[in-house]
Amino acid sequence: MLVNFRRTRSGLEFSEIGLGCMNLPENYQLASEIMDSAINQGINYFDTADLYNKGKNEELIGKFLKEHHKRNDVLIGSKVGNEFNFEDDDVKWNPSRNHILNSVKESLRRLKIDYLDLYMLHGGTMEDDKDETIDAFNTLKNDGLIRAYGISSIRPNVISYYLKHSDIDVIMMQFNMLDNRPEMLTDTIAEHDVKILARGPVMKGLLTDHYSEVVDKKFSKGILDYSKDELTQILSKAAMDSPLTESTMSYLLNHPVASIVCGASSPDQLQTNLAHYEQIKNSAANSTRDYFKNIDYQDHLS
Ligand SMILES: NC(=O)c1ccc[n+]([C@@H]2O[C@H](COP(=O)([O-])OP(=O)(O)OC[C@H]3O[C@@H](n4cnc5c(N)ncnc54)[C@H](OP(=O)(O)O)[C@@H]3O)[C@@H](O)[C@H]2O)c1
Repeated sequence: MLVNFRRTRSGLEFSEIGLGCMNLPENYQLASEIMDSAINQGINYFDTADLYNKGKNEELIGKFLKEHHKRNDVLIGSKVGNEFNFEDDDVKWNPSRNHILNSVKESLRRLKIDYLDLYMLHGGTMEDDKDETIDAFNTLKNDGLIRAYGISSIRPNVISYYLKHSDIDVIMMQFNMLDNRPEMLTDTIAEHDVKILARGPVMKGLLTDHYSEVVDKKFSKGILDYSKDELTQILSKAAMDSPLTESTMSYLLNHPVASIVCGASSPDQLQTNLAHYEQIKNSAANSTRDYFKNIDYQDHLS
């Protein structure tokens, strides 16, 4: 399949659909089937983080890349900032220079690669010493250990700081037709020549043909400004126009998004999502988004 690419300011060419590796099965055979199929169909972005399964997600990807000789076929993005240990579930936020410079080595070791294409701060607050964090990312970039950096954040105040004071390529944020809060920020992000990595594009399965079961299973208390009943009503109405996955993808591609980072826990899900992408990749956004409420970020504004 032909997947289109989008370029970021440091010259990284992201496939419009990426693979969110957090959701990969722990079973290596099944996970490698998904990764192999993704690459064969034109996906070139694999998204992971040191925290996912406490390093095991990076190890799974590393094993696959090495055994299948695929390092040069993909951009690998990982994330840092959560200090974890193997004894208990305690996770401590640590965006310090030392932690970042040490953690990158651990991620590279687990991934069995020499450099990361993208390294993202896995969150962040206004209270952090943000300039120290930025300095650490710039050091890694100058040293050739990463090609570009970014942040994963849904805090407008943190995003604004990084847009003004750093050379980030991308911001990863939950973004889809239901969670359309990033619309508040897309113009500013584009003005800074930065692009979005859209996580949660199918909202854990809500924006798929299986929305009805997913509402019952995962969203029985509703989500954002929607009660459970409202969700079911709005999704069934929107699904009558066109498949929800196609609508959310086409909506995202009409924003400054570098890649739609879809999670898939089975080869079938990947296949279905890619088939939906194939349907809309060169088309204009449809108007399905208009069924959904306009939602704004309420916290961390200044
Ligand atoms: N803070 C952060 O930086 C952060 C946070 C979250 C995620 N991420 C990244 O973003 C990626 C995507 O995030 P996400 O998992 O929230 O996104 P998502 O793509 O909206 O959800 C993925 C899940 O949706 C379900 N799904 C996917 N395709 C489906 C289909 N065709 N039919 C039915 N269900 C389907 C599956 O759930 P089941 O497995 O239950 O079937 C799958 O695990 C992650 O893998 C991770 O790399 C980053």
